[in-house]
Amino acid sequence: APMLATPKPTSRLLLASNRLPVTVTRNETEEYEFAEGTGGLVSGLRGLSKSTQFLWYGWPGIEVSGGETAPLAAKLKERFGAVPVYLDDNQADLYYNGFSNGILWPLLHYHPGEITFTEDSWQAYKNVNRKFAQAIARDVEDGDLVWVHDYHLMLLPEMLRDEVGSDKTIKIGFFLHTPFPSSELYRILPVRNEILSGLLHSDLIGLHTNDYARHFLSSCSIVLGLQTLTRTVTYKDRTVNVGAFPIGIEPKRFIKTLATDPVRERIAELESEFEGKKVMVGVDRLDYIKGIPQKLRAFEIFLNDHPECVGSVVLIQIAVPTRGDVEEYQNLRALVNELIGRINGRFGKTLPISTTWNGGKPSAHTLIISVGTFEYMPIHFMHQSVPFQELLALYAISEVCIVSSTRDGMNLVSFEYIACQRERHGSLILSEFAGSAKSLSGSIVVNPWNVYEMARAIDIAYHMPEEERRERFDKMNDHVQKFTSAFWGKSFIDTLTKIGNESLMEERL
Ligand code: G6P
Repeated sequence: APMLATPKPTSRLLLASNRLPVTVTRNETEEYEFAEGTGGLVSGLRGLSKSTQFLWYGWPGIEVSGGETAPLAAKLKERFGAVPVYLDDNQADLYYNGFSNGILWPLLHYHPGEITFTEDSWQAYKNVNRKFAQAIARDVEDGDLVWVHDYHLMLLPEMLRDEVGSDKTIKIGFFLHTPFPSSELYRILPVRNEILSGLLHSDLIGLHTNDYARHFLSSCSIVLGLQTLTRTVTYKDRTVNVGAFPIGIEPKRFIKTLATDPVRERIAELESEFEGKKVMVGVDRLDYIKGIPQKLRAFEIFLNDHPECVGSVVLIQIAVPTRGDVEEYQNLRALVNELIGRINGRFGKTLPISTTWNGGKPSAHTLIISVGTFEYMPIHFMHQSVPFQELLALYAISEVCIVSSTRDGMNLVSFEYIACQRERHGSLILSEFAGSAKSLSGSIVVNPWNVYEMARAIDIAYHMPEEERRERFDKMNDHVQKFTSAFWGKSFIDTLTKIGNESLMEERL
């Protein structure tokens, strides 16, 4: 007798993202070194790895060729469950710097001015997505779940179905870590149809917010003329599910590390270094979507309008180097350096010349000799990535954190800051254009394009009484503790697992 077919329990999860969860570098003696990633994606899936077996496909980030590819692949698989998709430097440049970060990234973040579309980079993007599809198709088994991540791999769902064919049934989920822009912006993209079609071969498409999901669906309807409902779109007789899955962090990891001795010691050190001053902090990749120039201008206006605060407030701005081969990132770096030079020159105070050179006797002269002779420097700028423990210490000593993104998929810095503020209850100034503004209702929400409004927010944060800070912190902290990266990963995979089971069962009856 025919049995009612129950869907196969998922045995495996195959993941694909541009970068592997492990960074591979070659040291001076030409040996490979590995460092495990710490982003939201990696931490979100750490929990899942206990219950589900998974393989992770990605670009190792460096060119590897000849006889070195196989042994490195074996090592990555054994130690990290990682499968490298090797790219030569030229191909990687066109796909990563060219199409992904020169076209898609600015488009998805409402920066159409930065786009330069070239046929070469589009070809490379297609080739690389095809390479991923072939690598996954080699290993995939009937019943597997495949979870594809981010804008680098938007063609992968379609190419994967094509490579796998109809012998095996697989489910494909896609998650976009960036915003999805309004259809009016999206339709600028010369290959708008191909990209949408690529994505629509997924069973489930996840975005951070309902707004992004709505924009995606309206692009499907306006660009491709498809039928859409609130949570679904019909494509070639298949129903594609679209939903919001806001990512989070792993707050326990922050709280645990904060309590360790080296971090406690570093906190004490920094506190004494900045004694008597209010520290405000900004932590961003040096990316034009982060609104760093706007943040600096707002800080400048604040100092200008509040001479009484000059000398008693500092902004520590960490700018993590990123995508330095793309021209817009180089331009941004020059602009940021110029602004900081101007503001520090205008409001900084140098030690009187005699204090530095003449046994401490003050004189009327001041001289800028080097940064070391500053008595007061309003902006401390570090263009480098900061080790995790140092970052936590910085978050912990700061009374205000400023997130000024002009567009940002979610922005995990806003969550990380809150996770480190259980003692101080600092304030968060948060751009309404960051996905996290939808969740962190205790923040001081600003429009970063309005630098005067942001300057007022700095003033409000500077003077906020403890009671109000505490109230706001509690609200934000509730969200950070509940909507963790593990929660995110599990909700997406649970939804993907459930999708279509009913109809699958009906078909088989
Ligand atoms: C964003 C993207 C990620 C990317 C990260 C760092 O968060 O959504 O996919 O990995 O930036 O950028 P990078 O180009 O260094 O990978």
